[in-house]
Amino acid sequence: MAAESLNNHPIRKNAVVTGGNKGIGYEICRQLMEKGVMVVLTARDEKRGKEAVEKLLREESCYYQQMNLVVFHQVDVVDPQSVSSLVDFIKSKYGKLDILVNNAGVNGLMVEGDVSILPEMIEREAARGLSNTTEEDEAPIKSTGKLIENFGWAEECISTNYYGAKRMIDAFIPLLLLSPSPRVVNVSSLLGKIKLVSNEWAIKALSDGENLTTEKVDEVLNEFLMNFKEDLLKEKGWPNVFSAYKVSKAAMNAYTRIVAQKYSAICINCICPGFAKTDITCNTGPMTPQDAAEGPILLALLPEDGTSGQFFYRKNILTTF
Ligand SMILES: NC(=O)c1ccc[n+]([C@@H]2O[C@H](COP(=O)([O-])OP(=O)(O)OC[C@H]3O[C@@H](n4cnc5c(N)ncnc54)[C@H](OP(=O)(O)O)[C@@H]3O)[C@@H](O)[C@H]2O)c1
Repeated sequence: MAAESLNNHPIRKNAVVTGGNKGIGYEICRQLMEKGVMVVLTARDEKRGKEAVEKLLREESCYYQQMNLVVFHQVDVVDPQSVSSLVDFIKSKYGKLDILVNNAGVNGLMVEGDVSILPEMIEREAARGLSNTTEEDEAPIKSTGKLIENFGWAEECISTNYYGAKRMIDAFIPLLLLSPSPRVVNVSSLLGKIKLVSNEWAIKALSDGENLTTEKVDEVLNEFLMNFKEDLLKEKGWPNVFSAYKVSKAAMNAYTRIVAQKYSAICINCICPGFAKTDITCNTGPMTPQDAAEGPILLALLPEDGTSGQFFYRKNILTTF
């Protein structure tokens, strides 16, 4: 990008991206830089994060380097201390935050055997999330692979995808409110559609958009984890596949609505970026991380009267959560 077009952004915005060392997060960092945004690429692992920054600077023109358009800062979203040290860094260096992208995430499972089980199941569940297909309409799964879930991974998934993103939002709200146009992008998934949570009580609790509270979300998550621990997922009607991932992203979407209602000055939205080849999908999926980053970039740079409290699939608003 030429110096001239970068200079078209007279007041430079800054952004924090979690999980920026690879996959969609890395691409979000790159595309924000292309738009002239000053990016703080964060990663839980310092070495991986610094290597990603070096790669970005190598791949892009040295102009970015001269303009200091990307810096690294460590953050592990499950570690409150590292989040508060990032807040201190942003506060002392920039005095405000314009864009927060909560991208860090884990899938809460392991694939055993034939990896094509993952795309088959993701496509099936995403189709269920988007339309009214039911089990009866669906062709049998061809893959011989298995998706293994356990309580430990479920806990990690909920604490990273939901509590991690929430911790980042809560910690950065004061600095976001100092920005003239604060934006929060929560990288979610179609698998977080409320109906895929399948437990009737949880569906009811999460669907009541106007009366959603963090206490209600906590209640759903605690009940889910308790039932998981007691091996009661099937009996209590929770999802039998991608269970923790679905519940964690549905909770993230609920928190998006809660924050949107509470802070009208902040445009906060959640988005399914599309099914892309990254480590979380075992590098299956039809999209590239570059394509998948485009929706989050759109939301990060929403104009003045931009929408808030919405759920996007790629670049379009979904009519239901
Ligand atoms: N790929 C898809 O098809 C797809 C579809 C829908 C939604 N998403 C969502 O997109 C987001 C990005 O995923 P991706 O596809 O790019 O997968 P990815 O390549 O596996 O990247 C996940 C990123 O999250 C980071 N991370 C995990 N736990 C963390 C923690 N506690 N603190 C900070 N960072 C942490 C990882 O860091 P390490 O390198 O240290 O592990 C990595 O940088 C996720 O939220 C995912 O759920 C992806």
